[in-house]
Amino acid sequence: MAKRVLVKFSGEALAGEGGFGIDSEILGFIAQEIKLLVEDGIEVGIVIGGGNIIRGVSASAGGIIKRTSGDYMGMLATVINAIAVQEALEHIGISTRVQSAMEIKEVCEPYIYRRAIRHLQKGRVVIFSAGTGNPYFTTDTAATLRAVEIEANMIIKATKVDGVYDKDPAKFSDAVMLNELSYDDALKDHIKVMDDTAIALAKDNKLPIVVCNMFKEGNLLKIIKGEEGICSTVK
Ligand code: GTP
Repeated sequence: MAKRVLVKFSGEALAGEGGFGIDSEILGFIAQEIKLLVEDGIEVGIVIGGGNIIRGVSASAGGIIKRTSGDYMGMLATVINAIAVQEALEHIGISTRVQSAMEIKEVCEPYIYRRAIRHLQKGRVVIFSAGTGNPYFTTDTAATLRAVEIEANMIIKATKVDGVYDKDPAKFSDAVMLNELSYDDALKDHIKVMDDTAIALAKDNKLPIVVCNMFKEGNLLKIIKGEEGICSTVK
């Protein structure tokens, strides 16, 4: 069974139906799901996107805000989400540390690889925020990078869907969910589990990417325990 995992949540997931901001019920749900892992002795790193607050690319789309600035705004948004998740976890008794790839030392610790490892070893959930600290990189890439750095056994991409299908399930009623696919399959246009940079990084480092439905209770723990047929694994 996996001992150390990195879970990537999208920022949009936090927003719920509203599509914007932070939904306290979803926040509470995510915290409970993570608590199940911690109670099982699994070391957990988390990366959350920022799309519920701002999306780097679309912020710049109007042409007023430069892409670089839009991306920095997005990175700051992930810090806001990280603090929300930290509070939700600590509210139910889970010890956490937030680290940031951009130094905001009044708010959280800077990202220090060796310190992150120590926190994980002590059973603290480490929430990695501010992406990679660089514009032009997605939070999926940041999550993959952190997963590789902390030598996680897998990166779990927590989504609204159960997994990856051979064709678009919204269009084809005979679409079949794939239990396993290769990194090269994951790069194909109609699949695109993550952006190319993230998948290439995972491939180079043989990091399995698990795509699963985060809204099904107990799913994360079941997946880590090896239950089959409830997610898709890229490896
Ligand atoms: P141990 O060394 O294992 O005891 O870890 P620790 O994180 O408890 O040690 P430390 O004394 O460094 O941190 C105590 C608290 O301060 C923790 O909640 C940290 O998250 C927080 N902290 C540490 N460094 C910083 C920082 O640079 N900025 C902010 N805002 N908080 C920090």
